[in-house]
Amino acid sequence: MNKVYIETYGCQMNFADSEIVGSILQKNEYVVVKDVEEADFVLINTCAIRDNAEQRIRKRVKELRAMQNRRVLKIGILGCMAERLKTQLLEEEDNVSFVMGPDSYRKLPEVLALVAKGEKSAETELSEVETYSDIAPVRLDGNGISAYISIMRGCENFCAYCVVPYTRGHERSRDPRSIEQEARTLFEQGYKEVTLLGQNVNSYRWNCDQDQVGFPELMERIAQISPLLRVRFATSHPKDLSDELLQVMAKYPNICKCIHLPVQSGSERMLKIMNRKYTPEWYLNRIEAIRRYIPDCSITTDVIAGFCTETEEEHQMTLDMFRKVRYDYAYMFKFSMRGGTYASKYMQDDIPDDVKTRRLEEIIALQGEIALENNRQEIGRTYEVLVEGPSHRSKEQYCGRNSQNKMIVFDREGVEAGQYVHVQVTDCTSATLLGKLVK
Ligand code: SAH
Ligand code: SF4
Ligand code: F3S
Repeated sequence: MNKVYIETYGCQMNFADSEIVGSILQKNEYVVVKDVEEADFVLINTCAIRDNAEQRIRKRVKELRAMQNRRVLKIGILGCMAERLKTQLLEEEDNVSFVMGPDSYRKLPEVLALVAKGEKSAETELSEVETYSDIAPVRLDGNGISAYISIMRGCENFCAYCVVPYTRGHERSRDPRSIEQEARTLFEQGYKEVTLLGQNVNSYRWNCDQDQVGFPELMERIAQISPLLRVRFATSHPKDLSDELLQVMAKYPNICKCIHLPVQSGSERMLKIMNRKYTPEWYLNRIEAIRRYIPDCSITTDVIAGFCTETEEEHQMTLDMFRKVRYDYAYMFKFSMRGGTYASKYMQDDIPDDVKTRRLEEIIALQGEIALENNRQEIGRTYEVLVEGPSHRSKEQYCGRNSQNKMIVFDREGVEAGQYVHVQVTDCTSATLLGKLVK
């Protein structure tokens, strides 16, 4: 029993965590396999952010039962859903052998050994210090070009709707030297792009051994590794987005010109009860600062439709925010009440589902129009593109992203993945740009 299959759901941080899990396993004589049919253990790294994320995982666990009826296969649930539900999950899903929260992955070898003997286990203690900084992640299913680097863990913000502070624990930053080392190693291995990850990267802070490093300094250190290494980051909280960071972004051509700035709502009252700690006015001031320092920056967002007590007027304010900012991309969600959050204790999930759905659809429709209009403006422009590989549609067509993180598809013409090329945009949809190589 030493073959492990890892399945990952949820955000980029979970994908980064699965790479840490892979590394811990490989150091302990386990083998990470690419085919679930070969596996002795299936580890499902889970997300708890919305109810539908959890339902999807429960469905997957039930599906795996068929395989368990044929042979020995142990299932472990890792990550946020394990942390949220703890032993309850073991009771409810009786074909699961263990649950393990995001700060316990060092215990995996021990726990797998117990589980192999038929025991059950729950490890859901959160830590104030764990950052796995000494563990070099193994890159699972990567494209060899672009990699995630986790720079901090946890969250201290306690937005009223959000489960993350409970599933990921307190915020802690990772040693900048280990982050820089990881980025350097990736570059030496041929990677061309790193994305620095945290729930609120703007509050990254390291105070140790005379080393006082905030996020702008960290970005500079990583950007200086090589002009050929692109640097991205996610996520910025609007309350902490500083001019200093924007100045650093403007200074280095290899820091990508794209900011993900989740707005959540366009209404001042909603933002207040969501505990976001900014007003629409503050948010628009940050947008204005981005446009001033980095005129070619793309801006993307997250938004929630139908949070507790949201009125029709407040929903209109969100639509107005979208019209004002004109996002290049948005992740749009219906509010989902999560157990343990401030909202679940003190508020009512009082917006009917059909109203939430309709509001969400209105936001999606508006954003679709805006993205298409934004993309049409790109026609004729030429961008440097980091080639990722064949496009979904055809092997003759390759795709890659520009600094603004927009995907551009173009005829291959001998280009290889990992190369930087120049592409002129010739056409578009609301999601993709089409272009031709400029030689
Ligand atoms: N740390 C990031 C967000 C992480 S969660 C930030 O603060 O911006 C990703 C997104 O999921 C959030 O931005 C929010 O839009 C959405 N989300 C979080 N909790 C949710 C809930 N209970 N219902 C619906 N969407 C939610
Ligand atoms: Fe959740 Fe808010 Fe933290 Fe983001 S900042 S992870 S939305 S609590
Ligand atoms: Fe989901 Fe946990 Fe990420 S709840 S969004 S996997 S931090």
